[in-house]
Amino acid sequence: RARELGFETVACASTGNLANSVSAHAASANLHCYVFIPGDLEAAKVLGNLIYKPHVVEVEGNYDDVNRLCSEIAGEHGWAFVNINIRPYYAEGSKTLAFETVEQLGWKTPDQVVIPMASGSLLTKIWKGLHEMKYVGLIDDVRTKINGAQAEGCSPISTAFKAGRDFFKPVKPKTIAKSLAIGNPADGYYALKATAESKGAMDMVTDEEVVEGIQLLAQTEGIFAETAGGVTIGVLKKLVKQGIIKKNEVTVAYITGNGLKTQEAVIDAVGRPTRIQPSLVAFEKNFKLGKNGGGDS
Ligand SMILES: Cc1ncc(COP(=O)(O)O)c(C=O)c1O
Repeated sequence: RARELGFETVACASTGNLANSVSAHAASANLHCYVFIPGDLEAAKVLGNLIYKPHVVEVEGNYDDVNRLCSEIAGEHGWAFVNINIRPYYAEGSKTLAFETVEQLGWKTPDQVVIPMASGSLLTKIWKGLHEMKYVGLIDDVRTKINGAQAEGCSPISTAFKAGRDFFKPVKPKTIAKSLAIGNPADGYYALKATAESKGAMDMVTDEEVVEGIQLLAQTEGIFAETAGGVTIGVLKKLVKQGIIKKNEVTVAYITGNGLKTQEAVIDAVGRPTRIQPSLVAFEKNFKLGKNGGGDS
């Protein structure tokens, strides 16, 4: 779209994942690219930009500092800023998460969804996407309850929801869920509105619960999620425990990022491989197996 509109340079402010995506698309669209990220991002997210050779600008500050700076730069340079002047095209793209869900459930909406929130945009667009499916006649009604998930160390939207407020108070983020570390969320108000309209809920989890969530998903579903996925699973677990999500309800948990990007968060929790000499004796010594190979110890 940026190319269609005649831009030669694309840019974005990002907690990491949007920057990876913008860098990759800019490379394939042959556009100049500037991505602005906070100074404390995980190594894999930084590398995931550098490989496409955009200008990677690491700002000494948090995402909210990055975002403020980008608003000023956007005023000075005629670039396509993905989450500023061409924001609608980026944000509307998130509706595909609703479309794919409905299609994969056989043209039905789920009873409940759990969505990780940073700026809150994704949540509002999934809600919008579900309603568009009804508007074009592909489904009869939208009865889905929308649930928002944040990490305790950056939970301005969930905190407001739980306090019964329709406005949030900005916070200074401190969490391992860096993808979601937006203290002043641009779409926070609308996320609160969509969740309330759907009769859904919001909650938040500690960093320990984020790691537990990542492990639970990996060890039960074989999916290695990044910290944002740990937030989603942690909050899903909490909502089930509270009886807000019932075990018989069709529930979709949106896992939005790959675990290899945030290895720092789990490195101390996963243990080490069992190292052995290349011999059967060494193997048998380390793994006391029964005759049929079961019961490793
Ligand atoms: C992995 C991941 N999931 C979810 C989100 C939520 O995005 P939003 O800002 O739309 O709430 C982000 C935002 O950066 C993200 O990186």
